[in-house]
Formats: sequence, C-alpha cells, structure tokens
Amino acid sequence: MARPSSMLLLLLVAACAPLAIADEDPAMVRRFDRWMVKHGRAYTDAGEKQRRFEVYRKNVELIEEFNSGSHSYTLTDTKFADLTNEEYRAKVLGLGAPGRTGRRAPRGETLAPVTVPEKESDGDDSTPPKEVDWRKEGAVVPVKNQGSCGSCWAFSAVAAIEGLNQIKKGKLVSLSEQELVDCDSEAVGCGGGFMSWAFEFVMDNHGLTTEASYPYLGVNGVCNTAKLNETTVSITGYKNVTANSEADLLKAAVKQPVSVAVDAGGFVWQLYGGGVFDRPCTAQVNHGVTVVGYGETNTTGADKPAVEKYWIVKNSWGAEWGEAGYIRLQRDAGAPTGLCGIALLASYPVM
Ligand SMILES: *[C@@H]1O[C@H](CO)[C@@H](O)[C@H](O)[C@H]1NC(C)=O
Ligand SMILES: *[C@@H]1O[C@H](CO)[C@@H](O)[C@H](O)[C@H]1NC(C)=O
Ligand SMILES: *[C@@H]1O[C@H](CO)[C@@H](O)[C@H](O)[C@H]1NC(C)=O
Repeated sequence: MARPSSMLLLLLVAACAPLAIADEDPAMVRRFDRWMVKHGRAYTDAGEKQRRFEVYRKNVELIEEFNSGSHSYTLTDTKFADLTNEEYRAKVLGLGAPGRTGRRAPRGETLAPVTVPEKESDGDDSTPPKEVDWRKEGAVVPVKNQGSCGSCWAFSAVAAIEGLNQIKKGKLVSLSEQELVDCDSEAVGCGGGFMSWAFEFVMDNHGLTTEASYPYLGVNGVCNTAKLNETTVSITGYKNVTANSEADLLKAAVKQPVSVAVDAGGFVWQLYGGGVFDRPCTAQVNHGVTVVGYGETNTTGADKPAVEKYWIVKNSWGAEWGEAGYIRLQRDAGAPTGLCGIALLASYPVM
C-alpha cells in the first residue's frame, strides 16, 4: 500500500540534497574543485561528489603525512586520487587472465613458442654503460593511456616492439594495442593478458598494424579482421630474461626496451608524484610496464645510500601521472626479484 507521507519525505530529502559539498574544510573543498577541473572530472550527482570528496580527502591526508617524512620520492593527488585503493586496482591493473589456462598461459603451457637463437656471448663480457635512456635515442613513442581497461599487457609489449623497430629499422612507429585487445583470443582484452601472449600474437599474425590504423578505444571490441593483414611491424620471436636476475635485465635493457611485470597495486603507485620509488611493494606482479633505460642519482636523505640506482619505467596511465608518465624504480634493491618483482617476468621481442 502506498504511503504518500514517506514518499513526500523522500522527495524532500532528495530536493534538499546538498548542491555543494558540506564544507567543514573549505580549503580542502577548494583543492578538490581545482583537482576536478584539472582532471576534467564530473560526477553524476551531489551524493556521488560528496562520496568522492571523502575519498579524495583521505588520500590527501595520506599524501601529506607521507611527504612530511624523508623519502626518495613524493606522493601527489594524481588522477586516481578520488578512488579507494581497491577501486584503483580494479580500474588499471590487468596482468594475468583469471580462468585462462590456454596454450599460451605463462605457467604450464603446452606449446613451445618459436624463438630465435641468440649468440650466448653477446655483450656478456663488456661493462654495461652507466646509464641508458632509449627516449633520448628516439626509440620511445609518447606515453599512452590505457584508460579503465586492464590492457597494460598490450601496452607493455607494444612499447617494446616499437622500441626494437626503431633500433633495427630506424623508424619510430606507434603501434596498435587495440588490435591485441580485440584480436588476441588467448587474452581477455580489457580483462587481462600477458606480454608473452602479445608477442606470440604478433609472431603468429606476422605483424601488427599502426595505432593510426587501429586506434585505441579502451574497451573490448570485435576484432577488425580486415586490419590483420596490415602487418606494418613484425617480430620473429621473443626471449625471456632469466628470472630473478637484475643483471640480465640490465644486459637486455642495454640493447632495447624490455617488457616487465611489477606490483603496482599499492597506494604509493596510485599516488606516485615523482622521484626514485624504493618501497613499499611486493613481488606479486599485477601490472605490465616497459623498462626504457636505467641510471643513477645522488640522494640527499640521511638514511639513504649516496647513490641510488634506478630503472626508467614507461607506464600507460597518461603523461599526467608520475614523472611525465614514467616512474623511476630502485635498481639493485637487494631482493632477487628486484623491486616490485621487476626481475620476475621480463621479456623482449626479437626481430
Ligand atoms: C617465457 O616465459 C613464459 C612464462 O614462464 C613462458 O610461458 C613462455 O613460454 C616463455 N617463452 C619463451 C620464448 O621462452
Ligand atoms: C587481406 O587479406 C585478404 C585475404 O587474403 C585479402 O582479400 C584482402 O584484400 C587483404 N587486405 C589488405 C588490405 O591487404
Ligand atoms: C653524484 O655526486 C658525485 C660526487 O659528488 C658527482 O661526481 C656526480 O656527478 C653526481 N651524480 C649525479 C647524477 O648527480
């Protein structure tokens, strides 16, 4: 039976919902409004805005507390600052494919992929350079943005292929992640995948088309099969870097950009603002990124070594995240897995 009085009450409450955030903290409200403008954020209604503000405020408190300590990196209110850590993880991580144990599953696979043998002695005896930055060599296309799609695996592999293509053929061509998302039937598109699957797709398909021809949409789509024979850039194989060896990862990075997996699930990745990231994270890898070089820097913190070595890591969260889209991760961090598991699942294409 209808109860008009409570209906009316509901309507009244709805009509009286605050149009602006309850502003017991006007400075924080102003900061949130500026942040919303900067990131082009709009919310469906006042209630949602209020909820997002509360999350944002908690994150800012976390950021300020962290930055008041002595660290080799800073946190900031990134574009993920209105998300809880759980929401952030669900939105951007995408390494792995739950429920998929297909022929290309990195563990327990049944089909050995084609690989190209490489001279064992290659560069092994020479001292690697103190620093390498493939961006300066023109082998890295501008930072891309995976959006709300767990396609990091495709971005990681594509950046490594783009780099190798420039190094071998002298041409920097931005290649299509969407083709991998839509057409690699072993992966689950935005639901996740592995870089090795991406390399194997490109090998099987004898190439990958360009970003321009098959642009990124950030959603699962139907494979545009007419694009499959646009094999603009091809690879002949790929190699895995010896797991648990940052030394081998370095040898690979001297030659070309390398696909790696990391644990990027923590709030410190969510809110990373710049500097050499040195902790905390685990070796439970969940995100695909690309090492595009390495280097070292002098640190100022009293409890830090005088020289801090780092990997230069290209991410796919847009240029507004981190150091213009990149993160520097501590190198030779003392664990066999490398920091955040960077030395666990590294691989690179062969041409
Ligand atoms: C690389 O490692 C993955 C994961 O263990 C494995 O599935 C794949 O077959 C390996 N690929 C090559 C070329 O060795
Ligand atoms: C792609 O391949 C199909 C079948 O071999 C062919 O009919 C088609 O013309 C090709 N398209 C392009 C763009 O090369
Ligand atoms: C680090 O400090 C040393 C000694 O002061 C100096 O020679 C070197 O150039 C510095 N390196 C960097 C990257 O600033």
